[in-house]
Amino acid sequence: MAKEHPLVAVTRRLPEPAMRRLQEADLVLRVWPESAPPPPGDLAALAAGCHGILCLLTDRIDAAFLDAAGPSLRVVSQMAVGVDNIDLAACTARGIPVGHTPGVLTEATADLTLALMLATARRLVAAAADVKAGKWTTWDPLGWVGPDLHSSTVGIVGLGRIGAAVARRLSGFGVEVLYHNRRPSLMAEELGAAYVSFDELLRRSDFVTLHCPYTSATHHLVNAETLALMKPSAILVNTSRGGVVDQEALCAALAAGKIAGAGLDVTTPEPLPADHPLLTLPNVVVLPHIGSASLPTRLLMANMAVDNLLVGLEGGRLPHCANPMP
Ligand code: DGY
Repeated sequence: MAKEHPLVAVTRRLPEPAMRRLQEADLVLRVWPESAPPPPGDLAALAAGCHGILCLLTDRIDAAFLDAAGPSLRVVSQMAVGVDNIDLAACTARGIPVGHTPGVLTEATADLTLALMLATARRLVAAAADVKAGKWTTWDPLGWVGPDLHSSTVGIVGLGRIGAAVARRLSGFGVEVLYHNRRPSLMAEELGAAYVSFDELLRRSDFVTLHCPYTSATHHLVNAETLALMKPSAILVNTSRGGVVDQEALCAALAAGKIAGAGLDVTTPEPLPADHPLLTLPNVVVLPHIGSASLPTRLLMANMAVDNLLVGLEGGRLPHCANPMP
């Protein structure tokens, strides 16, 4: 019998070593050549008849996509830990395992969270822009001042891998760490983090940092009502998913001075249009979803996605599977 060469759709070029591994495996590759994601129609055409797909968080993998891909599809492997763009139930119903990349981006994302806390509180972006614009005219006792991170109270929403890595970093800042999870975490004691209700966390924290997955339960967890519980001096940091925050309510709260600032690595939509009202506010730092964007981390993610894909094509149990498989 002739040997099968599985057909695999790859929705963007990956870091070169991972790309090479795909090329050297016994696969027929269909690689989306553009730097922007394939629009839904092109994504479906790219995947039609494929045995596997290696996708990104910018691709919507839903029942319609799975129907278009067809019955040959054996594995979906995503180069991201978050899988909110994928209809996991639809994949499970078709017996398709979904690979993802937990763990390898924890430290990079925690690093960026600290960077965003400091950048927002200490007004780094505005200060650096002023230097470039020739507005640094003197050492000003009142210039570019903001709150301290050290000695503050930080509330971590979601003490999972990334939340815990943030707590570990914060131990060097002499802060009080509060956290809220669906249930108390076993790691909390070692991390010096105190469990409180969500409302209490919002009321007491100087920084609120979001590290929960985006699900129907966390959709707009931060909204007009919950923002109203925060201190007027508080800063919201989000490196999870834009949908966890009701962005309109956040804009209104920032504009009205109900909270002091926001550092956002994730927004709704992504990319955020350059004329979006959030970007007109002086107390906001918005980054283009770069939590995992260190070179080593992106390579680890891509390699993990390739590992999941290759195992899935062979019909094996994925090393990192996001949906329940028998
Ligand atoms: C993820 O992996 O889910 C991040 O948001 C992107 O690195």
